[in-house]
Amino acid sequence: MSGRLAGKVAIVTGSGSGIGKSIAIRLANEGASIVVDYRNHIEQAQDTKSKVEAAGSKAILVPADVSVLSDTQNLVDQAYKQLGRCDILVNNAGIEIEAPFWEVTEKDYDAVLNVNLKGAFFLAQAFVRRLRDAKLPGRIINISSVHEDMVFPNFSTYCASKGGMRMLMRDLAVELGPLGITVNNIAPGAIATPINAKMMDNKAQLDALLKNIPLGRMGTPEEVAGLALFLASDDGAYCTGSTFIIDGGLIRNYHEQ
Ligand SMILES: NC(=O)c1ccc[n+]([C@@H]2O[C@H](COP(=O)([O-])OP(=O)(O)OC[C@H]3O[C@@H](n4cnc5c(N)ncnc54)[C@H](O)[C@@H]3O)[C@@H](O)[C@H]2O)c1
Repeated sequence: MSGRLAGKVAIVTGSGSGIGKSIAIRLANEGASIVVDYRNHIEQAQDTKSKVEAAGSKAILVPADVSVLSDTQNLVDQAYKQLGRCDILVNNAGIEIEAPFWEVTEKDYDAVLNVNLKGAFFLAQAFVRRLRDAKLPGRIINISSVHEDMVFPNFSTYCASKGGMRMLMRDLAVELGPLGITVNNIAPGAIATPINAKMMDNKAQLDALLKNIPLGRMGTPEEVAGLALFLASDDGAYCTGSTFIIDGGLIRNYHEQ
């Protein structure tokens, strides 16, 4: 298999749907073998696997709840066992739960922080330990959000998790740089995926959102995948410690009335 990622192996968490699925397919189009992680919907993960294979690459399905340490360890172990190596980690799995700050429960807090931040943290740890032992380079790409920086009232847990991901990325970039491992975040704005299904079905809410986006539309998962490919490929070799925003201008859009 030829391509910009020929011979590489990538884990993409939450790759049964949305952004993760597009990233898995895009990396596969460039020759990478893919560990397709899913939690609940095996049929969605199987569809991703078929599309990776149609692109001429290998795929394995590994069920893992990223908030469970033994599951994240198994993701890395399966990459080595079934595909022989693991060069790229895409921490994409994420959830959001809406609630005014004063109504957030401990259960909701734990759910969001454990998937979005703890999951990325310990999966990265398992990924890095193997690379360190083998003295090999690697790439970590976290799908954070514009909300690693931008407020989102009623989503305090989501903002806390994505803000934590921003500092985790900066810290790891410095700590892992000497090992040849790069660490970056992709911060999407509004992308048309299942996570936004409710909002996209509400015309008033959707119109209000689109007014805030200078490019006047939501982004596509494929556009996010293009950026992930850049960071995973040789073109992105000198990038580390940065957040790459992909939001149609949303985060910069402030007007004096
Ligand atoms: N769509 C957007 O507008 C947008 C914007 C900014 C950031 N993001 C981020 O992009 C990432 C992907 O979201 P998406 O938009 O593709 O939505 P999505 O709901 O389609 O994808 C989320 C994926 O994570 C998986 N997942 C959830 N909990 C998991 C767990 N415990 N273990 C393993 N997998 C789990 C889901 O099964 C799903 O496949 C998320 O981290 C999200 O926060 C999305």
